[in-house]
Amino acid sequence: MDSILVRGNGPLSGAIPIAGAKNTVLKLMCAALLTDEPLTLTNVPRLADIRTLSDVLVSLGCEIAELSGGRVLALNAGELTSCKADYDLVRKLRASFNVLGPLIGRTGQAIVSMPGGCAIGARAVDMHIDALERLGAKVELKDGYVHASAPQGLKGTEIPLRFASVGATENALTAAVLAKGTTVIKNAAREPDTKALADCLIAMGAQIEGAGTSEIVIQGVDALHGATQGVIPDRIELGTFMIAPMIAGGSIELLGGRLDLIPSFAEKMQEAGAIIEETPAGLKVTRGDGPITPVNVSTAPFPGFPTDLQAQFMAMMCFAEGTCTLEETIFENRFMHAPELLRMGAKVEVQGGTARVTGVSEMTGAPVMATDLRASVSLILAGLRSKGETTVNRVYHLDRGYERIEEKLSAVGADIERVKN
Ligand code: UD1
Repeated sequence: MDSILVRGNGPLSGAIPIAGAKNTVLKLMCAALLTDEPLTLTNVPRLADIRTLSDVLVSLGCEIAELSGGRVLALNAGELTSCKADYDLVRKLRASFNVLGPLIGRTGQAIVSMPGGCAIGARAVDMHIDALERLGAKVELKDGYVHASAPQGLKGTEIPLRFASVGATENALTAAVLAKGTTVIKNAAREPDTKALADCLIAMGAQIEGAGTSEIVIQGVDALHGATQGVIPDRIELGTFMIAPMIAGGSIELLGGRLDLIPSFAEKMQEAGAIIEETPAGLKVTRGDGPITPVNVSTAPFPGFPTDLQAQFMAMMCFAEGTCTLEETIFENRFMHAPELLRMGAKVEVQGGTARVTGVSEMTGAPVMATDLRASVSLILAGLRSKGETTVNRVYHLDRGYERIEEKLSAVGADIERVKN
């Protein structure tokens, strides 16, 4: 299996193009199941997760053509041949559980494997199921699968979520667009990816108001039609690369970067000492002259500080002058990067959902590995300023969510390469 080798070297300079958002495109791909007309997606990132979800959709009868070297996906679910998403496929990618809403909405039937937990937490799906039941579906859990049926179709209703879950909001939304009558999702997720999904559904003929706020109102329609939709920039890739010059020094421009995608994160970066400027092409981030200031962070649903940037922020705080605390409130086991950072000389103490990080003046490279995507990238970031070589193993986690990360970082001056083992 490949690994990534990083050698700490000098400051970075140049520009990095930000790819389309992984967590948006996955949900837009599932939305293709809602219509018998083609859905074309542009600005698609080339990632392992997209290929995995493509396998799930193809298994349901959706045809998928990759155009422009994979930058454009043409999906055609003209005829669905199956309503069952198999365990072998769903277990590889939790987001494939989001075929549930479109399948039950369009066909009145869905059998989807329960996704199970993953390294960062148990990740229950009770709210997804509750939403479908409220919409009138009969749901049974059998043999590790969710069996949902609504032979007479779904009926609009009120869906109050006990937590603003991204996945549950999106499954409820995609189920409700073809339901009879009005559905109101309360305490809905406000993530840009969820808003982007609603925008795509609207382009396909859905009637949705309030996406991007805590209350989404959906007026069911009889059918959706085809559309062409662009994918928004990946705010997690953006945030990750914003941290790179803070650790390595220098200044880089993130092409396509937008502050509205990362409001709380940008604020915390500025507190830490980043100079962030909006440019005609995106955002420019420069490490200020002083040391990195320690900044306390608590993860929260959007517009709060994203859990998907907590590991990368910790890598930066390892080099701060002083101590800070990072609190993880979304997932119960999301500090797996901490023990690996310790192996590189960091000072981090984890207690429950809180990590106390004390900056050090120097870290040293080491062979490290991580059990999830964002933890892996945090180790690369730390390696940018560590003495000697850092080898990040289990690189398939990185390939799930970062497109050509070694090429993007070496283009701005980092000493980084992929090693084929
Ligand atoms: C999505 C993102 C992921 C991000 C997360 C939080 C995708 C593909 N993934 O994941 O990158 O880290 O949002 O921003 O979009 N929960 C329940 N019951 C449910 C649903 C969720 O208890 O029915 C809990 C989960 O266990 C977790 C929390 O709610 O602790 C947040 O989960 P959720 O917002 O649903 O995240 P995902 O949609 O899985």
